[in-house]
Amino acid sequence: MAADMPADKKTMPPRPDLLDFHGVSMTHYFTDNWEKIQNFQARPDDILIATYPKAGTTWVSYILDLLYFSQKKPDRQTSNPIYERVPFLEIMIPNHPSGTDLADSLDSSPRLIKTHLPIQMIPKSFWEKKCRVVYVARNAKDNAVSFFHFDRMTYVQPEPGDWNSFLQRFMDGKMVFGSWYDHVTGWWERKQSHPKIHYMFFEDMVEDTGREIDKLSSFLGSNSTAAAKEQIRHLVQFDNMKKNDMANYSSFETMDFKISPFMRKGKVGDWKNHFTVTQNEQFDEDYKKKMKNTTLQFRTVV
Ligand code: A3P
Repeated sequence: MAADMPADKKTMPPRPDLLDFHGVSMTHYFTDNWEKIQNFQARPDDILIATYPKAGTTWVSYILDLLYFSQKKPDRQTSNPIYERVPFLEIMIPNHPSGTDLADSLDSSPRLIKTHLPIQMIPKSFWEKKCRVVYVARNAKDNAVSFFHFDRMTYVQPEPGDWNSFLQRFMDGKMVFGSWYDHVTGWWERKQSHPKIHYMFFEDMVEDTGREIDKLSSFLGSNSTAAAKEQIRHLVQFDNMKKNDMANYSSFETMDFKISPFMRKGKVGDWKNHFTVTQNEQFDEDYKKKMKNTTLQFRTVV
């Protein structure tokens, strides 16, 4: 049992180790249910929300949930936390239904399903059924910082270690769900030939949330009115989501908000408060090499 674990978390299993899974770093919490994940039966109207961890998954999940259900099922917003409304496909942790069981039990249409899997691991049924996918990407520096604080406060993640060693591991791709570089570029390449992938950026959401809601809405063919979209924009503002117990993960017992909140800062550029000048130079040099073959571009400031 981890020595830093507070009394109310002592029933938790120890933090997992990273393992190599078909060439991708993972923990057993995301591979234990592998057969069911790979055989998962998608429905044609399912919407898959795919991200590298900490890219704004919850933000986009909440927007989609509101776009689809805020008018039709207003009670939904106050009855269940977002992680039950939008199942996390590959998760299998103690005392929770598995992601596949939760998704199978949903009778909503569409089902919104979240995944952090890299492109090559997506269950084939999603492609066969021609499901729409919303992919959210976030610049590597802020993504790494957010991931570091998340791993500090989440007991089902490996020990993050100190910031310097964490950043090195990030650059080496030794993170849960593998390399950020492979993840964002793998999905980007697939998007070029796949019209049903909407590839969006955390930085654009911060810059103009309303514009990004409009784009999502047209991709999904939603008939939300301008007033409904404006209401959604208001509800998903950082401060409002942070206060909303159905969206802020406050009921998720594997997290310790005393260490760091789930809704932490929600900014572009917080990396400047974490990277030293040397770390930044080394990171940039390594980044150029790893990203030299892609047209994908990120903004680290807005
Ligand atoms: P920070 O740790 O930088 O604050 P995910 O949902 O993929 O785990 O991503 C979590 C990150 O998205 C966190 O980033 C969180 O604060 C940020 N986030 C969530 N909702 C947000 C919102 N409404 N506005 C801005 N950032 C948001």
